[in-house]
Amino acid sequence: MIQDSKPRTISLAITGASGAAYALRLLECLLNENIHVYLMVSPAAQIVLATETDLKVPSQPKEMQSFFIKHFNANSEQLEVFGKDQWMSPVASGSNAPDAMVVCPCTMGTLSAIACGASNNLIERAADVMIKEKRQLIIVPRETPFSPIHLENMLKLANIGVTIMPANPGFYHEPEEIGDLIDFMVARILDHLSIPHTLIGRWSE
Ligand SMILES: Cc1cc2nc3c(=O)[nH]c(=O)nc-3n(C[C@H](O)[C@H](O)[C@H](O)COP(=O)(O)O)c2cc1C
Repeated sequence: MIQDSKPRTISLAITGASGAAYALRLLECLLNENIHVYLMVSPAAQIVLATETDLKVPSQPKEMQSFFIKHFNANSEQLEVFGKDQWMSPVASGSNAPDAMVVCPCTMGTLSAIACGASNNLIERAADVMIKEKRQLIIVPRETPFSPIHLENMLKLANIGVTIMPANPGFYHEPEEIGDLIDFMVARILDHLSIPHTLIGRWSE
């Protein structure tokens, strides 16, 4: 499903798969486009962020919120960060769900939990809400190789309208650095959200 018009509010869930840089770039682009972002970062994602980036991201939601607002020079009203048990947050209910949600990168654990409707933490619940409310949900899984269990979970979600966009950038735009590969993936996610960008050129332009 591709969003018809530019969404106003987006949930971004960062889980503990490799590829934290995709999530940070996506967050930056969403904030630059004045999207209101609800951010959730799993405990495992915090370990991956510390492993794969130089950032010292605080673990508490309020401190994390201030950190990212400062880091991306965003408007203080634009970003809200929620912890894994914050059941009173808007993302936990269909009555106040965001226009779209992206899980980037998505672990096989969170993929599996979403596919079976576990809702054991706020990320899983927020994704479950998007599915039940028939709103746009984009999942960016990262693992290699995929086992039959992973593939079955992806197929199950794709069959009910979830967009599965594996973190596997193309090389036809002649990337020169890692940032070009990250931008390839983020550009495709933004395309599906109908959010304008100039990250990479379009095919045959
Ligand atoms: C540095 C690092 C990289 C990881 N990469 C992946 C990965 O690419 N895919 C994956 O499914 N799990 C990966 N894991 C394992 C998950 O983080 C682990 O299964 C965790 O329980 C997932 O929890 P979450 O889905 O709540 O984030 C990685 C863990 C670490 C520490």
